[in-house]
Amino acid sequence: MRTQVAVIGAGPAGLMLSHMLHLQGIESVVLETRSRDAIEATIRAGVLEQGTVDLMNEIGVGRRMLREGFPHEGTILRFDGRDRRIDFPELTGGKKVMVYAQHEVIKDLVEARLASGGDIRFEVSGVSLHDIDTASPKVRFRDKDNQAHEIVADFIAGCDGTQGVSRPSIPAGVLKGYERLYPFGWLGILCKAPPSSDELIYALHERGFALVSTRSPDIQRMYLQCDPTDKIENWSDDRIWEEFRARLDTRDGWAPKEGAIFSKVIVGMRSFVTDPMQYGRLFLAGDAAHVVPPTGAKGLNLAVADVRVLSKALVAFYRSGRSDLLDGYSAAALKRIWKAQRFSWWMTSMLHRFPGGDEFQYRIQIAELEYITGSRAGSTALAENYVGLPFDSAAL
Ligand code: FAD
Ligand code: PHB
Repeated sequence: MRTQVAVIGAGPAGLMLSHMLHLQGIESVVLETRSRDAIEATIRAGVLEQGTVDLMNEIGVGRRMLREGFPHEGTILRFDGRDRRIDFPELTGGKKVMVYAQHEVIKDLVEARLASGGDIRFEVSGVSLHDIDTASPKVRFRDKDNQAHEIVADFIAGCDGTQGVSRPSIPAGVLKGYERLYPFGWLGILCKAPPSSDELIYALHERGFALVSTRSPDIQRMYLQCDPTDKIENWSDDRIWEEFRARLDTRDGWAPKEGAIFSKVIVGMRSFVTDPMQYGRLFLAGDAAHVVPPTGAKGLNLAVADVRVLSKALVAFYRSGRSDLLDGYSAAALKRIWKAQRFSWWMTSMLHRFPGGDEFQYRIQIAELEYITGSRAGSTALAENYVGLPFDSAAL
């Protein structure tokens, strides 16, 4: 089988890229190891930057998001037992974010791809990449009936996340990885309850970080900092609510609304960047190339930002034979990636308790939160990063 771009992975990066290319008349085949039901049910990120929202609307997949998502014009930092609000539009010239779950974005993209005749192969196995340093790279895989296939393409987009095959297909010695592991993880829950707050609450307490987010008028998403090696069995519902009440500090009379917990997961946290993000005709995008800790809500948005740059470069190649944008893809994408890495690392460092961290460190964290929320310059620095920094027009 032949296609122009073979896309590995039907996450936000792969699906978005495939759809953007389709709108420019470029064909692709998307390979995904999991089933459609599985990718549409995996609970992950929840916050879309203004630029991600705008892009979804531009490419015609934003209708349900506009109807069912929650526009948020600010966020709350809670410490010392009270709320301080950061107002996004006021500090960023009108920008805001949208709370709309990643799996809903996936559903909208899969539907749009299939409605326009897109080729997504679910439940494939044995995916392998060949001849990536030639002008006809190939991908071999088995379909869900175990039949072997080969795709010959002009390009391969490696959008297969942290555990994919694309990055490891690049010969040793080409890529340099930069990594930071954090000595904590997040315990994430979903519960049946009305929203506790109109806006997300990022809280720092002596007992650690807590986050109050939302999914719908009757389902809430909340997180607690925990030991990354801890086991879910150690966290009874009672213990979870007791911890939320303590960390969210209910002294001022506000308290989170509690309800039946129906999902619990522990995720580790790390920062990772690979440089370059390309080799021959293979281009990496999204989590296949970089990972951020979730505190800045940047993972999904960075994946989308990568494919924005990559699709523009591929369109320039097919329209006018230009390969300079493809050659510059990695450098252009990495500029934004490192800024998002810095923001995610900073939010994580400011809002979590580090094991062994002493009272001095905690006092410095509180002083930083006081400064960020008390100064217009400080608040603007947080707001403009959270809603998404402007795109470099040369790369787009
Ligand atoms: P993915 O969404 O990982 O998509 C990659 C796809 O490739 C997957 O569907 C996978 O099944 C498929 N695949 C893998 N290997 C192969 C293969 N060999 N062949 C074919 N297909 C393959 N970010 C936030 O901002 N906030 C959050 O709260 C948050 N929570 C998260 C929770 C978890 C458990 C995880 C893992 C991530 C979380 N993230 C969060 C990060 C965010 O979800 C990711 O940054 C985002 O999904 C990246 O999109 P992607 O398309 O690059 O990769
Ligand atoms: C979420 O709703 O899942 C969420 C929100 C904000 C974050 C991380 C996750 O920073």
